[in-house]
Amino acid sequence: MKIFVWGAGRVGRSLARALSDADGMELVGAWNRTFSRALETSQLVDTEVSAGDALPDTFQKADVVILSVVDDAVAQTAALLAPHLGRRQVLLHTSGSLPSTVMAVEGMRAALGGCHPLQALADPNGDPDKLRGSTFAIEGAGIEAARAVAMAVGGKPLAIATEGKVAYHAAAVLSANYLTVLVDAACDLLESAGVAPDAGIDILQPLLQGTLDNLARCNQAGGDGRKALAQSLTGPVRRGDAGTVRAHRKALRKLPAKDLLPLYELLTARAAEITARVDEDAAHRVRGALPKSS
Ligand SMILES: NC(=O)c1ccc[n+]([C@@H]2O[C@H](COP(=O)([O-])OP(=O)(O)OC[C@H]3O[C@@H](n4cnc5c(N)ncnc54)[C@H](OP(=O)(O)O)[C@@H]3O)[C@@H](O)[C@H]2O)c1
Repeated sequence: MKIFVWGAGRVGRSLARALSDADGMELVGAWNRTFSRALETSQLVDTEVSAGDALPDTFQKADVVILSVVDDAVAQTAALLAPHLGRRQVLLHTSGSLPSTVMAVEGMRAALGGCHPLQALADPNGDPDKLRGSTFAIEGAGIEAARAVAMAVGGKPLAIATEGKVAYHAAAVLSANYLTVLVDAACDLLESAGVAPDAGIDILQPLLQGTLDNLARCNQAGGDGRKALAQSLTGPVRRGDAGTVRAHRKALRKLPAKDLLPLYELLTARAAEITARVDEDAAHRVRGALPKSS
């Protein structure tokens, strides 16, 4: 399968580098809007990387074009590329929230699809190793090409309905991005307990890793995953320690950041629902320690 990568940011570079080494794949070229990034990318992959207005010759050779530009530029870039794409080609984008149908612009003849690596790719040079083992949400008429790309880079394809894309992406944001947000909130609390401002992340890291390990273990256990998740939950809610929950709420009320108490109460109510799957008495005690609206 011949691949062209359009957009050499963190995702584009990760995919281009991984696909360069993948069996059955040939990276025929890459393009980036700004010349400087195109030049840098050409040092990372063994293919022609171009920039500017002229369409590179290698573009026409591609079976699959991967569009990895910022979400806001996906539709306009698809419109720009549409006249140069034929029926035998597939155009995939890498956005998590946008459906592939945003590329269904006038004159588009290529089959359209989504191929979203469910991974936090932060390295500006791209991180092909991080793609290995990552889930790839694939969808649209070009789903088989997206599956082939995902598998070639060691990913795990997950077929998703085009109309389910936004909910899928919200799940990713809630679980991963907002873990970082929760750590920031926890650092506020640690500071209020006298911990040095820059020490919080270090202190929490082993606890967070332990929690991720527990989650991985409950996933491997098989059976009812949501019940296993409840069994892997630790802490006062799971134990039904209503007094501790009341004490936490009292401490949070004294903090200058006023958003932490409602955040804590919402999450505690959700934790009580999870606990109820395995221990209704514990869940009941905790619900009694929360305001009625939670
Ligand atoms: N990073 C992640 O963890 C991650 C994970 C999964 C999916 N995604 C998705 O993958 C896509 C790319 O994300 P990224 O993280 O690789 O972004 P990025 O590192 O910020 O790179 C953005 C790319 O978009 C290009 N671009 C920006 N505006 C453009 C325009 N108007 N026309 C053409 N190209 C334009 C940039 O070109 P210049 O170099 O010229 O600025 C650059 O190549 C997004 O849809 C994102 O949602 C990201």
